[in-house]
Amino acid sequence: IECLGVYTSGGDAPGMNACLRAVVRTAIANDIAVMGIRRGYEGMIEADFVEMERRSVSNILQSGGTILKSARSEAFRTEEGRRAAANSLRENGIDALVAIGGDGTFRGASKLYDEHGLGVVGCPGTIDNDLYGTDQTIGYDTALNTAIDNIDRIRDTADAHNRLFLVEVMGRDAGFIALNSGIGGGAELILIPETITEMDMVKERILSLMTAQRRSTIVVVAEGDELGGAQGIERALRDDAAFSDIELRSTILGHTQRGGAPTASDRVLASRLGVAAVESLMDGHSDVMVGMTNNEIKLTPLRNVYGRRKSIDYDLLKLTQILS
Ligand code: F6P
Repeated sequence: IECLGVYTSGGDAPGMNACLRAVVRTAIANDIAVMGIRRGYEGMIEADFVEMERRSVSNILQSGGTILKSARSEAFRTEEGRRAAANSLRENGIDALVAIGGDGTFRGASKLYDEHGLGVVGCPGTIDNDLYGTDQTIGYDTALNTAIDNIDRIRDTADAHNRLFLVEVMGRDAGFIALNSGIGGGAELILIPETITEMDMVKERILSLMTAQRRSTIVVVAEGDELGGAQGIERALRDDAAFSDIELRSTILGHTQRGGAPTASDRVLASRLGVAAVESLMDGHSDVMVGMTNNEIKLTPLRNVYGRRKSIDYDLLKLTQILS
């Protein structure tokens, strides 16, 4: 490898900068030049490249977001777009890539490898933690802790007024944040996209909790839950006379979960995966994602990662019923 391109793509996640730093410094330590590709695949198509040195990644280990910026690219979904991207990479001497992102990022990276023979290794970066091939994704631990911190705050005020709170956390298709922040935050009910949720069951459970205990109740709901997230549930409860005596509030945590300083665990994970990505490319691996399973680096072909979701732990879901 003469020149390595590195990019962050899709939804940003805390720890992406730490990963980027590890990629840049590992490459430079091995006499490989590094180009940062700004704005993911958009920037790849437009040749928005920036030379990276050791110093370019100073002081970013602890910051959220991504200094390379991120984007979701429509143009890259087309063959033409990918050809344009491969051309700009070649014209700038970039002969291998590290892609930091999630499902869509890896789908694109794998196409670049298939269609244009570009060596590419992926690092799993998404707060959703839904990627197969790694126990945790970069950013998940931070997002989870942010969610729990907010649930704790909500509990204080919910308790003061004996209110029912619907707290919506991120996760369009995956319930990892909801499930674990719900358990960690002591939620009375957790609703996730992976399970079938019936409004009648939700109503019944809330009513029995609130009448039996007459105290605050917190329902953690993933944004992708089929009942329409916190707002969908709130509407249904407000339309039901049985809930007229219950004080109900909803909070959507939204993008607060995407920002902030990465936790220690995310910084270490991101650093280890960044180093492993460059070393894997140097060892001749390509079209794979580096993950961490049982505290060991594991390579998984990209085609086995995208379009396939890591399963949640259903035993954890049962815990809530016992603990709440
Ligand atoms: O994939 C990460 C994620 O934060 C999801 O949990 C969420 O559904 C989505 O991105 C939000 O995307 P955007 O920032 O583009 O609105």
